Amino acid sequence: MNIGITGGGSEIARAIALRRLKMGDSIFITSSSMESLLESLTFFKNQGYPNVEGFVHHLEDPAASQTALDVFIKKGIDGLILNASTRVRTLKPFHEMDPLDFKSQVDANIYGNVWLLQKILPQMIEKKFGRLLFISSVSATQGTSRYAAYCLAKSAMEGLFLNLAVDYGNAGIAASIIRPGLIATSRNKKFWSRGHYAEKMATIIPQGALGTPDQVAEATDPLLSNNTYMNGSVVTVAGGLPMMNSKGLLSL
Ligand SMILES: NC(=O)c1ccc[n+]([C@@H]2O[C@H](COP(=O)([O-])OP(=O)(O)OC[C@H]3O[C@@H](n4cnc5c(N)ncnc54)[C@H](OP(=O)(O)O)[C@@H]3O)[C@@H](O)[C@H]2O)c1
Repeated sequence: MNIGITGGGSEIARAIALRRLKMGDSIFITSSSMESLLESLTFFKNQGYPNVEGFVHHLEDPAASQTALDVFIKKGIDGLILNASTRVRTLKPFHEMDPLDFKSQVDANIYGNVWLLQKILPQMIEKKFGRLLFISSVSATQGTSRYAAYCLAKSAMEGLFLNLAVDYGNAGIAASIIRPGLIATSRNKKFWSRGHYAEKMATIIPQGALGTPDQVAEATDPLLSNNTYMNGSVVTVAGGLPMMNSKGLLSL
């Protein structure tokens, strides 16, 4: 398969890419800047995969990627994994957020993705095959304190994916959602690198530990398979969250 993964600098994206490369797939990535793109391509080269390609796709300026994307559309795209997500810049309650900042976060994380989907769907429809995956979050349905724009964008994208599953399911296109819980990546390192945070969270998470990027990658297998009957499926990869170990809660 020829699979595109957005946010190539993310450890989750890299784990998915490495897993699929080992299965023989071709991978292209997108990144927010030329600097991060080159860093990621060097990463894959050092892992023994010099053929990974990519282009810059900034979520706030998606149309600027048109020419670069056209090259990959011409070659044919079998799968697209929407993994990129802007980092939460300021932790504020909703009513204190600057409305323009709020809007720009929501716009980027919805329309930066919508643009890509609208561009790549026609060639999937034409060849009657496509695999679309949205990397969401347990926050989409559970809510996370001071993450209003993030929660809004994740749940809105989940809604769109369910619509895609219905509208394109009979065109050979499967659209599904992965909801990670707490996965140890550089995105949240400021939390889990503090020993007591990881220890406390481990007492609450039913499986007793934060997740790893390769555990998220593993969950993509059935959703991307040629023969999948999973469409509009939601796979939570969260060690049991949002359920919580009450023994752990009592010890806080
Ligand atoms: N880690 C967790 O605990 C967790 C939990 C739930 C859900 N998730 C979801 O899993 C996905 C990956 O998470 P992660 O932990 O690997 O996060 P991450 O390290 O922040 O990776 C996200 C990637 O998105 C890209 N990105 C950020 N801002 C962008 C912009 N304005 N335009 C284009 N691309 C942009 C960046 O790619 P480049 O570096 O290539 O520019 C960045 O590396 C995200 O969708 C996140 O919401 C993660």
